[in-house]
Amino acid sequence: MSWNAETIRQKLNGPLALLFGGKSSERQISLKSGNAILEALQRQEIPVTVIDPADANWMEKLADHQNAFIALHGPGGEDGTIQGALECLGVNYTGSGVMASALAMDKLRCKRLWLGEGLSTPHFMELHADSDWQATSDILGQAIVKPACEGSSIGMSRADNAEELRTAWQLAKDYGRVFAEQWVTGAEFTVAILNGEALPAIRLETDASFYDFNAKYISNDTRYHCPSGLSEAKEREIQQLALAAFEAVGCRDWGRVDVMQSESGHFYLLEVNTIPGMTDHSLVPMAAKQAGLDFDQLVLRVLSSSLERSGN
Ligand SMILES: Nc1ncnc2c1ncn2[C@@H]1O[C@H](COP(=O)(O)OP(=O)(O)OP(=O)(O)O)[C@@H](O)[C@H]1O
Ligand SMILES: [Mg+2]
Repeated sequence: MSWNAETIRQKLNGPLALLFGGKSSERQISLKSGNAILEALQRQEIPVTVIDPADANWMEKLADHQNAFIALHGPGGEDGTIQGALECLGVNYTGSGVMASALAMDKLRCKRLWLGEGLSTPHFMELHADSDWQATSDILGQAIVKPACEGSSIGMSRADNAEELRTAWQLAKDYGRVFAEQWVTGAEFTVAILNGEALPAIRLETDASFYDFNAKYISNDTRYHCPSGLSEAKEREIQQLALAAFEAVGCRDWGRVDVMQSESGHFYLLEVNTIPGMTDHSLVPMAAKQAGLDFDQLVLRVLSSSLERSGN
């Protein structure tokens, strides 16, 4: 569904609550995403109220709003909790619902679900204080250790042997449950999903050992290729895989699925992001542009699909 600004103003029937900031470790990214979305809405004369859930009175500010655009990242904003609060308050909102948001935030549960659906994701093992590091290392070989419920590569590190596994677990454990995943050597892709369709895949290239926090937000050396350079058949395959992964989790409206490709050409699902970054330099706007949608149109598309549920 794609409505123009005029129709959206009518459907909103009052100001749109734009939620950004929040308390997660991704607050700074959310401030950037939120401000970019705010400017897009203002350019299109959509009435907006800015709300930061880190403020004590955010719920009072939200009263009287019928619709919200959520531009929060990470725990507390992307994990179903805000979505649940909005459900209770009767506020319609953009993006995935409570269950899908919570599931997508939890990489471990997501991977188990994908395996159950026959969708491919790298082999993995949950880690604990009493894990047998040597046995885990023997089974997985080269690995990457991740907190189950964080984003932006926070708490993640590569571990190629038993000792490195234990050190990596120690770096990650303060973020909650932790797992080790088999390292995939090969190209990295991300596929944006918008209104039930996969947008063109983006291939990411970094000189770092993986796409870490620095490569994501600080370095100017990270390279993004869209079109991705995949053959037509492989592009279709990755889009279908991303869409199937998104739908298996029960996501809706928009999101982004991260995928690695092994040297033999096989695709492996890493994770799904239900509220991806939305700065001018972010990946979803980049894919949208390749599909012929500018930033302002993308914002209206996301909003349109949520307004379809508003009953106005
Ligand atoms: N199995 C793997 N093999 C090789 N590299 C990996 C693997 N898993 C993750 N990576 C690298 O680590 C990065 C971050 O991993 P992932 O996407 O799982 O976590 P994230 O921190 O939640 O990401 P985001 O910021 O997109 O939410 C990937 O973009 C990729 O470069
Ligand atoms: Mg990722």
